[in-house]
Amino acid sequence: MKNKVLFVVTIIAVFLLGLLASSIINRKSEAKYEYVPKVDIGENEPRSKVWGENYPQEYQSWLQTADTTFASFQGGSAMRDVLEEDPRLVVLFAGYGFSKDYNQGRGHSYAIEDIRNSLRTGGPKGEGDGPMPATCWTCKGPDVPRVMSEIGVAEFYKGKWADKGEEIVNPIGCADCHDPGNMKLKITRPALVEAFDAMGKDINQATHQEMRSLVCAQCHVEYYFNKNLPGKEGVPYLVFPWKDGMAVEDMEKYYDDIAFADWTHKISKTPMLKAQHPGYETFKTGVHADRGVSCADCHMPYKSEGGQKFTDHHVQSPLNNMANACQACHREESTKLMENVYERQRKATENRIKLEDLLVKAHVEAGKAWELGATDEQMKPILQDIRHGQWRWDYSAASHGASFHSPVEIGRVIGGGLDIAAEARVKLARLLADLGHNKPVEMPDISSKEKAQKYIGLDIEKLEAEKEAFKENLLPKWMEAAKAREDKIETKSVSMN
Ligand code: HEC
Ligand code: HEC
Ligand code: HEC
Ligand code: HEC
Repeated sequence: MKNKVLFVVTIIAVFLLGLLASSIINRKSEAKYEYVPKVDIGENEPRSKVWGENYPQEYQSWLQTADTTFASFQGGSAMRDVLEEDPRLVVLFAGYGFSKDYNQGRGHSYAIEDIRNSLRTGGPKGEGDGPMPATCWTCKGPDVPRVMSEIGVAEFYKGKWADKGEEIVNPIGCADCHDPGNMKLKITRPALVEAFDAMGKDINQATHQEMRSLVCAQCHVEYYFNKNLPGKEGVPYLVFPWKDGMAVEDMEKYYDDIAFADWTHKISKTPMLKAQHPGYETFKTGVHADRGVSCADCHMPYKSEGGQKFTDHHVQSPLNNMANACQACHREESTKLMENVYERQRKATENRIKLEDLLVKAHVEAGKAWELGATDEQMKPILQDIRHGQWRWDYSAASHGASFHSPVEIGRVIGGGLDIAAEARVKLARLLADLGHNKPVEMPDISSKEKAQKYIGLDIEKLEAEKEAFKENLLPKWMEAAKAREDKIETKSVSMN
């Protein structure tokens, strides 16, 4: 009797296992990537829509970078006016474009729109006009590799931003990161290849996992425009300053050695460095990078739809997608992981604001010292401190996500900045006393963006009027020319045979 029951149970179990196995096999064949190309994607096809014909899932998810509904404690895709949130920045950037207008980065799909709208690019009236060089287009989209291949790299960087306005119209898309022939990840920006060369490394030796970060390092890095490259004098050539290393001190030394300054500060007259966005460099110092995690693991995790697994091309804050982005590796609840992120960001912000306060005071006090007749010789060591202190502040603040990517390093860098900025103010107090000013320097009212901009002498209304005129007159011409160019590209269907 017992044996009979066991026999029947075994038969049923075997039957059920068989069913399960056949359903798994079915699923597997369902999930197999059935790739049927519809169009022949041209070598430098900048329009992601055309690529989307062949890769609809990647394309559909890429389109979602237009979403602006997510805001986190300090990131997200919503428009955030950084100067409004923290008017101290207006003073820190006095004399430089970022004091006019500074919005936090949002989705890749806005790259073109946002650079056109920014007051930093001014209101050019035509070719050869406006404050920014053509080089500023380099991180904005897949027309860049197209035009570079047509006219050459140095020729691309040459001239004004407005000169290439009708060329660069498609926002960051497929051709920025992929080879259309085999869809492999591809480095399309020469500056990254050249930076590897300068370090004695060959980027072609990068592993697949490294490539999943390096495609981002084409843009999310520190850079400057070198106008003295042999053979390319006068061209603002894009360079990543990594020759001596990527640490905050290494890049500072690189810039000090060539006496480079992004601008001269309007109040303190300091030869300043602008940290652009050393996201890759700072990320490399964190624990995730150390364990071989790539940018794409968190910002472009896998996603499943209809039994198919593919890479989610909605590049965004991972906090809006924690199940796929974090919980693929971590077992903790998403609320707990979110709290981990916020805690690191809050703690970094706490000291970063203290450093900002010191730097604002140092700029204003240095301005006072000049007013009282300080000499270049007296000011030199002070300005060097201000330069180094603000470089550390900016390296921490502008390296988007770094207070999470690498909290320990960011803590160290801000700590170093606090020390240097405090040192500048000790020197300033002594100098001011020597100059007969033995009391605190009066601080301006910078409690709002408007007040701070007024204090540094910016005429925002004029800048806005120039921008409006640009949008009314020149921009429509760019759009027209771009449309005419793209209408001429023939996209061939792939014939089935
Ligand atoms: C372990 C996961 C992880 C990895 C790996 C990672 N990031 Fe992040 N990243 C985050 C988190 C979490 C944030 C904070 C998002 C927020 O505050 O909303 C963030 C923020 C950012 C931001 C700012 C986004 C915003 O909404 O403000 C950028 C840009 C960014 N990361 C780029 C990169 C790049 C480039 C790399 C690779 C060099 C990288 N990240 C690697 C998790 C990651
Ligand atoms: C061709 C240059 C370029 C490349 C390549 C690039 N980015 Fe960006 N990224 C940008 C620019 C420019 C912005 C800001 C766009 C804006 O605000 O208009 C941005 C914004 C972002 C944001 C903010 C989005 C949000 O919703 O807050 C994240 C996160 C990000 N990038 C991560 C990445 C990651 C990860 C990679 C690599 C897989 C990458 N980026 C590759 C240029 C680039
Ligand atoms: C910022 C860089 C970036 C951009 C822009 C980008 N991709 Fe990708 N793509 C990646 C990364 C990273 C992967 C993962 C590659 C890997 O691990 O092999 C990927 C993977 C893919 C794959 C392989 C299948 C898969 O889903 O993993 C396809 C197909 C693809 N992308 C299509 C596109 C298309 C179409 C566009 C434009 C609509 C696009 N990509 C834009 C970075 C990018
Ligand atoms: C591909 C795997 C992977 C992904 C994806 C990933 N992590 Fe991690 N994370 C790790 C590893 C590995 C460590 C190192 C600690 C360890 O070995 O346990 C780590 C460490 C951490 C730590 C502690 C280190 C520190 O900085 O203090 C936090 C917090 C963390 N991860 C949060 C996140 C969050 C939030 C996300 C999603 C945005 C995420 N991780 C995505 C693998 C991953």
